[in-house]
Amino acid sequence: MQAVIDYLREHEQRFVAELCDYVRFPSVSAQAEHGQDLRACADWVLKHCREIGLEARLCPTAGNPIIVARTPRAKSPGARRRHFVVYGHYDVQPPEPLDLWSSPPFEPRVADGVVLGRGASDNKGQNLAHLMAVEAYLKTGTPLPCDVTFVIEGEEEVGSRSLESFLREQRAELGCDAVVISDTGMPSPKHPALTYALRGIAACEVTLHGPARDLHSGIFGGTVDNPAMALCQLLGKLRDKHGRVAIPGFYDDVEPLSAYERKQFARLPFKARDYQKLLGVPKLFGERGFTPMEQRSARPTFEINGLTSGYQGEGSKTIIPAWARAKITIRLVPNQEPARVMKRVQRHLKKLCPPTVRLELKWRHGAEPYLVSPTGAEAQAALRALRSAFGCEPVLIREGGSIPIVNEFKKILRADSLLVGLALPDDNAHSPNEKFDLGCFAKGQLMSAYLWQELSRG
Ligand code: BES
Ligand code: MN
Repeated sequence: MQAVIDYLREHEQRFVAELCDYVRFPSVSAQAEHGQDLRACADWVLKHCREIGLEARLCPTAGNPIIVARTPRAKSPGARRRHFVVYGHYDVQPPEPLDLWSSPPFEPRVADGVVLGRGASDNKGQNLAHLMAVEAYLKTGTPLPCDVTFVIEGEEEVGSRSLESFLREQRAELGCDAVVISDTGMPSPKHPALTYALRGIAACEVTLHGPARDLHSGIFGGTVDNPAMALCQLLGKLRDKHGRVAIPGFYDDVEPLSAYERKQFARLPFKARDYQKLLGVPKLFGERGFTPMEQRSARPTFEINGLTSGYQGEGSKTIIPAWARAKITIRLVPNQEPARVMKRVQRHLKKLCPPTVRLELKWRHGAEPYLVSPTGAEAQAALRALRSAFGCEPVLIREGGSIPIVNEFKKILRADSLLVGLALPDDNAHSPNEKFDLGCFAKGQLMSAYLWQELSRG
């Protein structure tokens, strides 16, 4: 094991350079124009996996290809070895708005102990840390105590559309004792974390159609409805002033937080002032009766992600827009179901929509919330690995983000996910100036190296 640890330290600089190479691909899955970039990025991952000694292949899908890379298996298998899948994604969120980046999002740069660039934290750096730990085993000839298979996909940020059927097809090969994922966060460098719950998601687009074309607002204004105004009024009715979502039945299936969990939440490091400053808001806002920690991970929300209508260019243009559109995502908690919630949303929108505009609702993607008991043997092993690598006591947390595929891992592979995230709260995931902390990168590699030992004990 010492050889592995030494290898990781000796190759630290090269690992940082490789992370930069990885971040240089604009692998934006939401934008069709980046199809070639996603393909090139997948090829880079494939090549990298082969170079470090993995048996790797590129699996085409209806969407972006998936990389499957395995540690070499023993020729004459004796007792059944434990098998773990490491999941990650090479696609990234759109980098816009570009003018807010201190340097171009796909020209990664190392500064003050971080790598800056879209995808550095979510998820390229975090996933790469595991590849580097396995490289250290393979290159130093240190026997791995278990079999490891990497599954790295390119559609996570758009709902993992192709992965589910892929898992079904490859079920025999991917069957495993647990799935290891570093694609979540930790409260601070002194609080490495095991995440035991994620929120689910339901995404849709709401469009209100008004006149057949943009109209002169002076000549016609006053006689027709304005879709932008109608949309604002409609959306305005969906949340009350106490932060409760005002859609009938929205909270029906929500599992209340136990007193025990609320006590655990209260123990996590959190300073409302620092949090508010980090986010740059004049005042925090959230559902009444819950702490910010609870609001951001254990309560459902209704968010407008984008709002578009009319003229967005320079100067003024006096029109009544032909249409107005909102991109919406709803975060779900146990035991809400995406389809059921969506139905309730649709029913309510139809009810509220005035007859002066036409409502169009496009369902995009959905994922169920995830919750697993952190008391199992694998979770305990992960906690030990985190403790060894970071040199301090890990915490158990629930996270507000979603990783759409974790429930399919459970259903199809019958495996729980060990969420050992390496992102810090100020990593700017999905925001301008995303970065990944090099301390987290190095400790993440160590954590992964320890993890294979810990998971294979007993
Ligand atoms: N890494 C995130 C999910 C995450 C972030 C979980 C922080 C917990 C803490 C992941 O890449 C992500 O952003 N997922 C999307 C999924 C969606 C587009 C279907 C999300 O949560 O918005
Ligand atoms: Mn993400």
